[in-house]
Amino acid sequence: MTLDISAIRKEFPILKTSIGKYPLIYFDNGATAQKPQAVIDCINQYYQAENANIHRGVHHLSQLATEKYEAARGVIKSYINAAHDYEVIFTKGTTDGINLVAQSFGKLLQPGDEILISQMEHHSNIVPWQMIAEERGLQLRYIPINERGELDLTTIDELINNNTKIVAITHISNALGTINPIEEIIEKSHKVGAKVLIDAAQSLQHTTVDVQKIDCDFLVFSGHKIFGPTGVGILYGKEDVLNQMPPYQGGGDMIKTVTLEKTTYNNLPHKFEAGTPNIVGGIGLGKAIEWLSQFDLEAIAQYEQELLDYATEKLLKIEGLKIFGTSAKKCATISFLIDNTHPYDVGTLLNQQGIAVRTGHHCTQPIMDFYKIPGTIRASFSFYNTKEEIDLFIGALNKAVMMLK
Ligand code: ALA
Repeated sequence: MTLDISAIRKEFPILKTSIGKYPLIYFDNGATAQKPQAVIDCINQYYQAENANIHRGVHHLSQLATEKYEAARGVIKSYINAAHDYEVIFTKGTTDGINLVAQSFGKLLQPGDEILISQMEHHSNIVPWQMIAEERGLQLRYIPINERGELDLTTIDELINNNTKIVAITHISNALGTINPIEEIIEKSHKVGAKVLIDAAQSLQHTTVDVQKIDCDFLVFSGHKIFGPTGVGILYGKEDVLNQMPPYQGGGDMIKTVTLEKTTYNNLPHKFEAGTPNIVGGIGLGKAIEWLSQFDLEAIAQYEQELLDYATEKLLKIEGLKIFGTSAKKCATISFLIDNTHPYDVGTLLNQQGIAVRTGHHCTQPIMDFYKIPGTIRASFSFYNTKEEIDLFIGALNKAVMMLK
């Protein structure tokens, strides 16, 4: 299946925006993806004609909202190929999902138990583990990275040992674009009985992930990076491990019975979904995944690889430009610096020419410390981007460099 990029672009109203006299070129997809009309319409429709609270009412609208919310759960279950709907838990986003697992699974751990993460993680996959490690006397260990921005697995057999209880790893680095060998890590972790959490915040919009095939115990992602709304995300967890874990938050919907003396908890997924959720967010996320599923994900990955190769080649022609993250397996994210310029200044001058990139440490300060740099300029592509946009970006970058040097 070939992708009709020009038709796909027409589905994103925001891509018609101008920034001053320049057409918007949106290369900040790692931070958040734009929304197709189908998702925008779905959100409007919900608030215009369907809004009600879920799981609570006998009235028509409440039942309709409940059906749509639960149908969205089903769409997400199919997209990641979970075994059951109730293994799909709605959260506020990736960060919320990791905090849930760290705080809940973490309570099952004993002093001296080890948690393994990597130097490549987003702060959201570092700080929650530091917090629970400190609280419970757990040992937090790190897989280092190498100069190419890949996980350095030379000591992995020592890092994953009989004390390791959970390994939490990003599938794709938000700062470098590196695609990690998660299946190998999952297999090694399971050999010692450790559970594995995959941070898929940067992956499901670029590639499919079959949770049963890769056999992860948890997988987390955010709605807004996969063409859905902000404030909603997913925690997938295997039924048996979720059942062992205590609830994360208390409140409505997560209980079976409450007396003044004692509460019993609801079944999955409700045990982990206290309070009125982001209903329209969940429905919108289901719609975004339905929308994305009409395309061949292989074709998307191939097209994005072409964008990556094209942009990499053009960028490397700029004098003094260095790319951080040169793994052979990369998604369409490029972090770079240009000699004698500050990333913030370059980002500002690109913005003045209508181009949106992210500058800074990208919530990955340990990566920046590794390279001894304050931050980078990051261009992250989606499949609605084009080579023509990359040409304009390179022209704008050359202009910015001329002004700054
Ligand atoms: N985690 C998002 C990024 O990489 C916000 O930009």
